Amino acid sequence: MNGETYEPIETASVDELRALQLERMQWSLGHAYENVPHFKASFDAAGVAPSDLKELSDLSKFPFLNKADLRDNYPFGMFAVPQDQIVRLHASSGTTGKPTVVAYTRKDIDTWSTVMARSIVAAGGRAGDIAHVAYGYGLFTGGLGAHYGAEHLGCTVVPMGGGQTEKQVLLINDFKPRIVFVTPSYFLNILDEMERQGLDPRESSLEIGIFGAEPWTPELGLEIEARANIAATDIYGMSEIIGPGVAQECVETKDGPTVWEDHFYPEVIDPETGQVLPDGEQGELVFTSLTKEAFPIIRYRTRDITRLLPGTARTMRRMERISGRTDDMLIIRGVNVFPSQVEAEILKIDGLSPHFLCEVGTDGNMKSLTVRVEPQPGVEDDGLGPALQHYIKTNIGVTADVIVEAEGALPRSQGKAQRVVNS
Ligand code: DLL
Repeated sequence: MNGETYEPIETASVDELRALQLERMQWSLGHAYENVPHFKASFDAAGVAPSDLKELSDLSKFPFLNKADLRDNYPFGMFAVPQDQIVRLHASSGTTGKPTVVAYTRKDIDTWSTVMARSIVAAGGRAGDIAHVAYGYGLFTGGLGAHYGAEHLGCTVVPMGGGQTEKQVLLINDFKPRIVFVTPSYFLNILDEMERQGLDPRESSLEIGIFGAEPWTPELGLEIEARANIAATDIYGMSEIIGPGVAQECVETKDGPTVWEDHFYPEVIDPETGQVLPDGEQGELVFTSLTKEAFPIIRYRTRDITRLLPGTARTMRRMERISGRTDDMLIIRGVNVFPSQVEAEILKIDGLSPHFLCEVGTDGNMKSLTVRVEPQPGVEDDGLGPALQHYIKTNIGVTADVIVEAEGALPRSQGKAQRVVNS
């Protein structure tokens, strides 16, 4: 069931992959320990040295790296090479003011471009395709990550960036790209604009959507595929790991992103105890970089919730689509709720659109949830609210107030959608 691959390692034997990972992990631990004071101090405090890693499972002896460690070393304290070897910086905005800064050597940019090119091929893209990049450029890794990967593969890149939705539609219509890189929520916005202009998205030249940077449900994928007549695949990434292209769903199986684990070694842990969980169990995703020079990460806690699954289209393991981050989880009257679960329920109801917002309020000393949602264009609200309320109660287990807004009343995404607000 193998589709076209970009590099031989994608279909190497498991033994070959594990041997490569071990060799690279030993290098990466040593590199981090010798060149980043934080890792030297944290390994020493835990009583471990890079030479203690004899097999891959020994990684569990090493301490975790947390977002707070990055913040404490702001801006350049986690870099493992002198500044004159760094050719690029990116940053992700945190909730607490100062961004998290990440760095790349020339070789790191090459690694990133290669895993992105690999991802595009896994999604069904080929050299010679026109690729429209609607991820934001700038400090965000989405735009430039997709851009360099598509160029590396030999695509014709349209560096549109995020926003200017009318212009997005104009360029898609006139340049006839085969591939679009965009957050799924912003793609919905682009589809609405196409329809507003009287264009049928099914008639557009787009055949492949490489969607990521935010959680999205399989239900939304099906809706987008039907509306735009494209193959929707999921791309995962994070600035601290490298950017987009850490994992990519293969178009021939569409069964969750394949982790490019010859460069980024995944573990799933119990977020409470820090214990490594066996493959197949749900927990927090943790990554160790195996080849990065400028910004090595050892056991970085992503806060993303998933499980690791056996490889199918490739030798590498897959991850289940991310349902949310531990930080985005709402606890409503004792029940854990991810906005992506609400999205899945909304899309079960004919007549509701995927534009929604979860508003969290207080109800005594408990939290309450109000879901604001819009109907599909031209659809009369005929019992849509109570229907959604019923689905949410039955399938998620919480009582939510549902408000069906007028069409166009909710803010539209230009990039990563904000699904939760406090009222
Ligand atoms: O969002 C990198 C990226 C750009 C990935 C474009 C894919 C496409 P950050 O801004 O550092 O990096 O945000 C990383 O976004 O920890 C997840 O919570 C979330 N995320 C990224 N991809 C997915 C996905 C980029 N496919 C954070 N599904 C991660 C669900 C995703 N969540």
